[in-house]
Amino acid sequence: MSSGFRIDNLRCEYLSNPLGLDERKPRLSYTLECGRRGAKQVSRRIQVASTEEALELVTADLWDSGTVQSEVVSQIEYEGKALGSRDRCFWRVLVEDELGHSHISPVAMWTMGLLGKEAWLSKWIAADPEVIERDEEATVPTLKDCGTPTQFRKSFPVNGAPARATLYVTARGLVEVELDGKRVGKDLLAPEWTDYDTRIHCRTYDVTDLISGAGQSAIGVILGDGWWSGYVGWQETRARYGDLQNSFSAQLEIEYEGGKVETICTDSTWRCETGPILSSDFMMGESYDARREHDGWSLPDFDDAGWLSSLEVETPAVELCSQRSEPVRIIETIEPLSKNEIEPGVFIFDIGQNISGWARLKVRQPRGTRIQIRFGEKLKPDGTLYTENLRLAKSTDVYICKGDGEELWQPRFTFHGFQYIEVTGLAEPEEGSCVTACVIHSGTPPAGEFKCSNPDVTRLWKNGLWSQKDNFLSVPTDCPQRDERLGWMGDAQIFLRTATYNMDVAGFFTKWMVDVEDAQTEEGIFPDTAPRLREGENFIGLDDLIGGAAWADAGIIIPHTIWRVYGDTRMVESHWQAMTAWLDYLERTNPNYLRLNDLRNNYGDWLCIPSDREFRTHSPMKNLLATAYWASDAAMMAEMARSLGKNAEAERFEETFEKVKAAFQSEFVNEDGSMTVETQTAYLLALAMNLLPEELRDAAAARLVENIYKLDWHLSTGFVGIRFLNPVLTEAGYPEVAYKLLLQDTYPSWLYPVKHGATTIWERWNGWTEEDGFFEPTMNSFNHYSLGSVGEWLYSHVAGIELDHTACGFSKAKLKPYPCQGLDWVEASYRSVNGLYKSSWRLSDETWNWDFTIPANASATVWVPAAEEETVESEGLDLLEKRDGWLLYEAVSGSYQISVQRSAMRAAGKVAT
Ligand code: BGC
Repeated sequence: MSSGFRIDNLRCEYLSNPLGLDERKPRLSYTLECGRRGAKQVSRRIQVASTEEALELVTADLWDSGTVQSEVVSQIEYEGKALGSRDRCFWRVLVEDELGHSHISPVAMWTMGLLGKEAWLSKWIAADPEVIERDEEATVPTLKDCGTPTQFRKSFPVNGAPARATLYVTARGLVEVELDGKRVGKDLLAPEWTDYDTRIHCRTYDVTDLISGAGQSAIGVILGDGWWSGYVGWQETRARYGDLQNSFSAQLEIEYEGGKVETICTDSTWRCETGPILSSDFMMGESYDARREHDGWSLPDFDDAGWLSSLEVETPAVELCSQRSEPVRIIETIEPLSKNEIEPGVFIFDIGQNISGWARLKVRQPRGTRIQIRFGEKLKPDGTLYTENLRLAKSTDVYICKGDGEELWQPRFTFHGFQYIEVTGLAEPEEGSCVTACVIHSGTPPAGEFKCSNPDVTRLWKNGLWSQKDNFLSVPTDCPQRDERLGWMGDAQIFLRTATYNMDVAGFFTKWMVDVEDAQTEEGIFPDTAPRLREGENFIGLDDLIGGAAWADAGIIIPHTIWRVYGDTRMVESHWQAMTAWLDYLERTNPNYLRLNDLRNNYGDWLCIPSDREFRTHSPMKNLLATAYWASDAAMMAEMARSLGKNAEAERFEETFEKVKAAFQSEFVNEDGSMTVETQTAYLLALAMNLLPEELRDAAAARLVENIYKLDWHLSTGFVGIRFLNPVLTEAGYPEVAYKLLLQDTYPSWLYPVKHGATTIWERWNGWTEEDGFFEPTMNSFNHYSLGSVGEWLYSHVAGIELDHTACGFSKAKLKPYPCQGLDWVEASYRSVNGLYKSSWRLSDETWNWDFTIPANASATVWVPAAEEETVESEGLDLLEKRDGWLLYEAVSGSYQISVQRSAMRAAGKVAT
């Protein structure tokens, strides 16, 4: 064995040791960590066994792949014995490297869940409405009409310590479970959001260690509203996605030594009662009266004689499925930076960061003290909380003290978007801070980091990352604060590439793409939001919220991106029909290959700055945008089809692309390369999506630059154009213009909000301006990620870490940074599914120094901005070719240092100034 070679990050279906999968052929992956140049895998052997011990035997009992000569380390499909309900699978991989040394990974595992309806023995139960009706306090909600969570319990005999105990739980609503007084798992807001008409998640927990095993045990469940029956979207009433009756089903399987299994199932013998949570809702907040706690309610000896029997309700006729993404958790906590008593008894805490989550309260107050906690993203000039932009969301938590010393509390079934916390109602002064902010979101693993010599640019990158964290909560939402929080498709697709750099979002989008397909109409129309918004009593109706250009097209963009970034061909295969149905629909409704029909609630270049507003609402721009996206969909389909060997379909989509492109040119492109609609976004789409005749590309790019110049080097795009702005400028030969826009800090620009204290990306360029203060509160979130999609360019063009499009999954990269005068140094890293890439450069008067790392088992084409080899100091790189003032090298895994003379870069026309 050679030292320094490690097999790491063992994952099954993108998750670390997942429980309760329903995928019968799960895919395995791992990474190789080794600093040695050229380190790679020559062969691998995967072993899967039903016990950890069996792995040590010569042949693993579930699957032994045998030695496979291959460099592939991800998307490896399990090909062993057929897996059934409850199977446990322990696995490891044996790798032989290029020196002939062998390496063994640590052991990882996954388990299978309850597969098929027969395995699910439990009834679905709901609270007897009587428990609420007889409870005076629960029927008088403090804030607005919200649901009152209810508690359920059941005690049962146990025959000694279990060998293994597994809990399966699902709900229409949200559950938190306790066993013998201890919380089960750390998941929050479970089960997560799905298209409830089609499927509901089931969560699986290993609870072996929670069962005391001494004669009698008990299970307790708190059931709240969440997406099923609470407020979601801009509505006046609850239950837009489900109905007002919350229900759940749980199955606890206790296995003893010797194989005997006892199963505890939900049924009407479970007892129910209201408890301390008076009301709870995502938008409205949670009210909790600690005096109403039922001490020991999930312990076996609790007296539940006064509780009522549960109601058995009909089992939903939809699929119960395993959650494919990382659960929502408390990811970190933040202590306030300051506390300010703005008027007697009104305390404002600033946590220094706009987050999604809640405040954990720690107080010592007399019994009955009613503490109110409110949340806001901003303060008004007089120092009070700015809550107008929350619209109908009250975002108010209330805690009533029981008064027995120090009390620690946090809500369960709500979350807020905020940087400031207002606390009122304290009867006694509290020393220091009585709140800690808890950041909650889906636990997508961190993947990338970026920093540079300009702290505002570093902050801009960080703001994008924070908006991602704050909005990736079960689905990619638009915002975490106001009465909306929907899975808007346009926002998600615009930011997706940035998101993949910041975090490993493969599991997250695997889950969400299922929601997207579930929301597709029978005619093949993808929705604008997923899960799809049901008909509501106000605002737009269901029929408008489908098929939006650049929104619905996410149905193609997501699989295409996940395929490219993670090498995930299964995502493409499993959504192929849905994607084809969408392309069929576009062709059916637009026979002349301009996308003009059925555009419904067409958003255009949403929230482009006011001076371009006329273009947004003006139909030629909308038609241009819609047609461009259609062409791009067809191109992506053709590319995926080719790669998957679907050649006839590839040809069909290539043809569609050509037809749409031709129609686009005749309708929107003038002979001199100008466009019929003079907006930055029109040029950006035409250039990015390859819709111009080759000979007009330069002229179009020059017009784009002229447009930017006329605006005194300012951008004017909305959500849609912004993603393409800097990548297109850079690749069209104007990196210096891209950097000018990056470093611009007067309105409108990326750095304008940063200069004015933004800690997340704002929804609008003019969310707040020096001239006008806050924009109208009707639509003014300070935490929408779309305008932060420049993050992609920071990684791919500034640091220069980009996919090599000839190889999916970053097994090969294109390392091509564009150094620029305005930044002295840049440092970035990106953990791909094939391992960790790094790139950092420093510009001095004399030289440009670049250090980069290619992970073991990967390779890269390295682009050095110089024309002549003699001006470059490098070691271990083989020159491939010279192209347009770049030297191209082929590099194997390992770390490299390169130094280029500035004069040589200037000669090659390569340092942006
Ligand atoms: C959301 C957006 C979304 C849009 C659709 C808004 O209310 O917050 O981000 O994409 O509606 O135009």
